[in-house]
Amino acid sequence: MNEEQRKAGTLDVLANRKDKAEEKDYSKYFDHVYQPPSLKEAKKRGKEETVYNRDFQIDEKYRGMGKGRTFLIKTYGCQMNAHDTEVMAGILTALGYTPTEDVNVADVILLNTCAIRENAENKVFGEIGNLKHIKQERPDCLIGVCGCMSQEESVVNKILKSYQNVDMIFGTHNIHRLPQILEEAYLSKAMVVEVWSKEGDVIENLPKVREGRIKAWVNIMYGCDKFCTYCIVPFTRGKERSRRPQDIIDEVRDLACQGYQEITLLGQNVNSYGKDLDDIEYGLGDLLEDIAKIDIPRVRFTTSHPWDFTDRMIEVIAQGGNIVPHIHLPVQSGNDQVLKIMGRKYTRASYLDLVNRIKQAIPNVALTTDIIVGYPNETEEQFEETLSLYEEVGFEHAYTYLYSQRDGTPAAKMKDNVPTDVKKARLQRLNQLVGKYSAEALKAYEGKTVKVLCEGASKKDEEVLAGYTERNKLVNFRAPKSMIGKIVDVKIVEAKQYSLNGEFVGVSVATLVSQ
Ligand code: 5AD
Ligand code: SF4
Repeated sequence: MNEEQRKAGTLDVLANRKDKAEEKDYSKYFDHVYQPPSLKEAKKRGKEETVYNRDFQIDEKYRGMGKGRTFLIKTYGCQMNAHDTEVMAGILTALGYTPTEDVNVADVILLNTCAIRENAENKVFGEIGNLKHIKQERPDCLIGVCGCMSQEESVVNKILKSYQNVDMIFGTHNIHRLPQILEEAYLSKAMVVEVWSKEGDVIENLPKVREGRIKAWVNIMYGCDKFCTYCIVPFTRGKERSRRPQDIIDEVRDLACQGYQEITLLGQNVNSYGKDLDDIEYGLGDLLEDIAKIDIPRVRFTTSHPWDFTDRMIEVIAQGGNIVPHIHLPVQSGNDQVLKIMGRKYTRASYLDLVNRIKQAIPNVALTTDIIVGYPNETEEQFEETLSLYEEVGFEHAYTYLYSQRDGTPAAKMKDNVPTDVKKARLQRLNQLVGKYSAEALKAYEGKTVKVLCEGASKKDEEVLAGYTERNKLVNFRAPKSMIGKIVDVKIVEAKQYSLNGEFVGVSVATLVSQ
């Protein structure tokens, strides 16, 4: 579909809208608000330097926009999306909106979507459908779709065609334009589509309303240049752009001053951090070393690509300090041929070699991973190599997925030829293995005393507190509520399938010293 046809298609859709019935000329809207995505454009990687914008401010004229109005953001997918939601909540709050949990009263409803697999997308379409009655009952309520799905042409076209209850579609690169997008949506009533396929600047100083006061996300980079053949992320999140070290360090210092106990450094592929900073030689190892000097008890990072995992990084993590000994290292498959067609750029042997180097340097390390089963042409033998690799590494946990074809990715040109029942049977076998190793890893904690960052009441019982160990194990225990937000010692008495039960010992000495 070319630009003209697309425009014409949209005009048809708009012409069918009741509120636009008398309007003949829609083009005035498109000058400002019809900017649909293009995966072809998103694939391009230019040589332009990243521009760092530190002057972000919300124009005074928008400030009162949300007065007396409420918002609700539903978040799907990864931590990056969760953090983007915090930024959108920050912007909406700065505009005067207040949060609500009730979809039936919210004046602005945003769906922050995930495009990684088809079932993630289906969930969102189901939700947009569910919101149709809200728009009928309260036509003034604004419904927006943002996040990774909105970067896909096919999704935008489907929404334009079949979901006229949506008022705004905006992408991952223009979140900071939320005030303008909202204004357009209030004024025009036509569907506002503003999705940039080329990544924009790195914008610092965006307002944020963080989800909690104990743990915080910190972006260190945006985008991905790896182009693993199955993955839509390099298209939806654009090229790799690292934040400047000082901006990250300042943000972490500020979080430490506010009393945060744990930060997670975020990026699609954090190991590439710094490669695009042409004027300095500074990578993730250097960043971790600098952040280790900040007085914040725990530092995590995710996600790592095995290809860029340097010895320098291993060395820095091995020094301990506040960098926790948990590494999430997606392997995806244990077979060389499958890894090759996935475009992962490492082999089974080089992955195992990396794991051995990590284990030697960090003997107490907890390794977790991501695995895809049923990749195009994956044979039974190849799948069994994934099982054997899993056993060889002895991962403590894994997120496992059925391969899902994503339009526009190189793998979408391959035939998705592993039958669904075979895929599902493989996933089940893999999950059994994952369950066995996770249970064994938990069992090994019985009788030991661990440090737990107490986050609040457990999901099942208000009277029980819960938190995670450094190696990311969920622990439930009884203790005074005043322990929430503190790192405490807990003696593990029982390992369950996915968590540990323990007895509270006291506030951890390390916490007492650092406070
Ligand atoms: N199908 C299935 N799983 C996928 N992932 C990414 N793309 C796909 C896809 N098309 C998985 C990978 C990645 C995790 C975040 O999601 O395992 O590491
Ligand atoms: Fe996707 Fe591969 Fe980039 Fe991870 S490293 S976001 S799997 S392309």
